[in-house]
Amino acid sequence: MIPSAGEAVALHRKYGSSETIVEHCRTVAAVAGVLVGAFRARGVEVDERAVAAGAMLHDIGRSKVQTFMHGLEGAEIIQREGVDKEVVEIVRRHVGAGISPGEAKGLGLPPFDYIPRTLEERIVCFADKMVDSTRVRPFEKEVQRFVAKGHDVDRLRALKRSLEEELGEDPETLVLEKLKATP
Ligand SMILES: [Fe+2]
Repeated sequence: MIPSAGEAVALHRKYGSSETIVEHCRTVAAVAGVLVGAFRARGVEVDERAVAAGAMLHDIGRSKVQTFMHGLEGAEIIQREGVDKEVVEIVRRHVGAGISPGEAKGLGLPPFDYIPRTLEERIVCFADKMVDSTRVRPFEKEVQRFVAKGHDVDRLRALKRSLEEELGEDPETLVLEKLKATP
């Protein structure tokens, strides 16, 4: 099952997500939608429904936990709800720029490669990094945050570069141009 936006919101309500989280997810879905449109315009196949559902549900795990565990938590919630695996994996792999198996071990996460790989997983992960709470903001702001926290900036930049190479243009510029009116 791939939930519609309305069904995704109903799931958020069921698990007690805050309004801010629901609004954050809506904004990430808008950013991801711009990217899906751009890829499609270039003839690249993207599962639009999976991206939309993944974006709408990516932070549902924050209803339970605020740490890096929320990706896994969210994935488990929606898996139990019968959501398609493709969407479950988008949610599982959206945290930061992904978590490697080695890092997962150090963090006490179940051993798994949590780095976004499919185009759909990378689109949602990247879109999330361009949204601070409910505002669209430059990707560079997230890079600065990564630097301040000592996270792997190279992986974050590689995420953007991978999309840029496949898209043939800068995904950040595209999003900022299309969504500059977002409050
Ligand atoms: Fe998240």
